[in-house]
Amino acid sequence: MSNSTNKRPVILTGDRTTGPLHLGHYAGSLKNRVMLQHTHEQFLLLADTQALTDNAHDPEKVRRTVLEVAYDYLAVGIDPALTTICVQSALPALTELTMLYMNFVTVARLERNPTIKTEIQLRGFERDVPARFLCYPIPQAADITAFKATIVPVGEDQAPLIEQTNEIVRRLNRQIGHDLLPEAHAMIPRVGRLPGIDGKAKMSKSQGNAILLSASPDEIHNAVLQMYTDPNHVRAADPGTVEGNVVFTYLDAFGDDQNTIEGLKARYRRGGLGDMAVKRQLEDVLQSLLAPIRERRARYAGDPGYVMDLLRQGAFKARERTQTTLEEVRTGLGLFSL
Ligand code: TRP
Repeated sequence: MSNSTNKRPVILTGDRTTGPLHLGHYAGSLKNRVMLQHTHEQFLLLADTQALTDNAHDPEKVRRTVLEVAYDYLAVGIDPALTTICVQSALPALTELTMLYMNFVTVARLERNPTIKTEIQLRGFERDVPARFLCYPIPQAADITAFKATIVPVGEDQAPLIEQTNEIVRRLNRQIGHDLLPEAHAMIPRVGRLPGIDGKAKMSKSQGNAILLSASPDEIHNAVLQMYTDPNHVRAADPGTVEGNVVFTYLDAFGDDQNTIEGLKARYRRGGLGDMAVKRQLEDVLQSLLAPIRERRARYAGDPGYVMDLLRQGAFKARERTQTTLEEVRTGLGLFSL
């Protein structure tokens, strides 16, 4: 690898492998990652061990999803020559770093982490929270620092995890006596979270309000038909509301002709434009966005051996990288070594 590539800032981000990716992932992060791979050294982590934190009862699903998410990455244009895709559980250095970092984090701090607090509430865990779940900011700090990533593209909800990562980095660097580990910056997408097709704040497969990247033309058609609009816009002639109207939100997110969209909005507000007409426009946009993605995905899914090979190569490169950091941390802390 050339020096100039080595000097590119390192990006690490990942996805829990709990289900195939959807349009929300595409709008919020995948599109960005496809661009960033040209200017940064990018690692994508298939976070299967993290997925187990609340899916330990279904490891088979987590295992299966590793490949599904890899297909999604490749289908949207993640280029394995530019981005290293790696499976979290294949990188033992991450676990060892986690164990070391745990000495630098208090239980009180974990319980105060806003992301963890919210997620524990959402899942109704209370005191029955799996220890690994409560601790997950620590392995996530291990993920980030093992690659010495300085940029971590994540959703806004994950920002407190980056803050906690940097606390660990500062403590460790102080203990070691020099700035071995870099601090990381969260890169939060400018676009807000994409709502589900039912208008709920978050698109998610488990809520049944998602359009998967692998959706068939019929599934796309039906999703658009069901899509939440303005419940008070009963007849085409009535004036309608654009704000909170999912069809327009998606047109803004995925349409490429801003003038046409603004024109549609004006007509809708004035009255005289029916929901079906706008939905037809959106369906066109989504069908042409997803058709090439679906085709590429089918090609990769038809050749799992090839994708497995990519994951092996990714693991190889990532093992080397993360093992080096681990050795540096061990040496820095002055641990015993044979
Ligand atoms: N927690 C992230 C999510 O919920 C996934 C993840 C695991 C991650 N390790 C990471 C993200 C490291 C950024 C950096 O999707």
